[in-house]
Amino acid sequence: GKAPIKVLITGAAGQIGYALAPRVASGSMLGADQPVILHLLDIPPAAQSLDGVKMELIDSAFPLLHGVVATTDVDEATKDVDIAVMVGGFPRKAGMERKDVMSKNVSIYKSQASALEKNAKPGVKVLVVANPANTNALILKENAPSIPPENITCLTRLDHNRALGQVAERTGTPVSEVKNVIIWGNHSSSQYPDVAHGTVAGKPIKEAVADDAWLAGDFISTVQQRGAAIIKMRGMSSALSAASSACDHIRDWIKGTPSGTWVSMGVFSDGSYGAPKDVVFSFPVECKDGGWSIVQGLKIDDFAAGKLKATGDELVEEKALALECLAESSQ
Ligand code: NAI
Repeated sequence: GKAPIKVLITGAAGQIGYALAPRVASGSMLGADQPVILHLLDIPPAAQSLDGVKMELIDSAFPLLHGVVATTDVDEATKDVDIAVMVGGFPRKAGMERKDVMSKNVSIYKSQASALEKNAKPGVKVLVVANPANTNALILKENAPSIPPENITCLTRLDHNRALGQVAERTGTPVSEVKNVIIWGNHSSSQYPDVAHGTVAGKPIKEAVADDAWLAGDFISTVQQRGAAIIKMRGMSSALSAASSACDHIRDWIKGTPSGTWVSMGVFSDGSYGAPKDVVFSFPVECKDGGWSIVQGLKIDDFAAGKLKATGDELVEEKALALECLAESSQ
């Protein structure tokens, strides 16, 4: 059989961790013939709960699961990992300023970057899920210079899947028939969910939906605000859909996207489509041979250009805030 792949999940005692670990262990991320060893990291206050998750993983008797390391030691957790899904972070609590949350999280991502650089396999592929996802990924990249920048990404696949789901529901089509939507920019409400290049059963989305006002209005705000809507309904943030999308992200990155289709990933920007450089920006990407490339040559109209500018500006501002937080914390 194949050698097991080591997958790190940070924040593994949390909500997303609880939904993600069993998916990875049952083949949703890497395939039904690929054994895995799970490395689960959390912080000491969550250590007991983390051990409970490990017990349940053992009790599930997943045939592909060749081992579970549950630890609060970041060096042990990152040792020789092939894939790192970074879910651990500090949530925003009532009364906290945006800068306070940013400050806590960028410090975590700075120190975990160093641990990954020191301990992970040289070709480690990193997916940052924890918010602010794009900026955490950027800080991780800046503090792990020996990891190739193209190996560090953030999750906007959940937003992408939400857009697919909305179009499928609206047109009464199975979601598998909806293709090539795009999430541009930040995993925040400034993101631009773009259907101008997408299709439903081979037909342009615009024709299949036949409601331009909905596409330019409620569709966009529904996708942008979906995270908040889930919190309102469940009293907790998206976990099942986040975990499922994280598996989709890694699976497509490693196994490739079908010819003529693309997915959205937050990647280190080269300035394509007028996006700011040197931030982690969500683009349409095609994946092949374990790598990704930004889909080029899509036509951007004035409406889209304005939306891309707004989300790009927000990312530049977030980056400045993150760097300010790191400078203050190192004084
Ligand atoms: P949660 O609060 O249930 O779990 C987070 C876990 O991280 C906790 O167990 C906590 O102890 C742990 N943690 C905190 N600091 C850590 C550190 N330094 N090292 C390792 N673990 C640490 O939160 P949940 O619901 O699982 O969400 C996790 C993150 O994912 C949040 O930042 C959330 O905003 C983000 N998120 C991102 C989405 C995306 O599409 N990019 C979608 C949904 C959530």
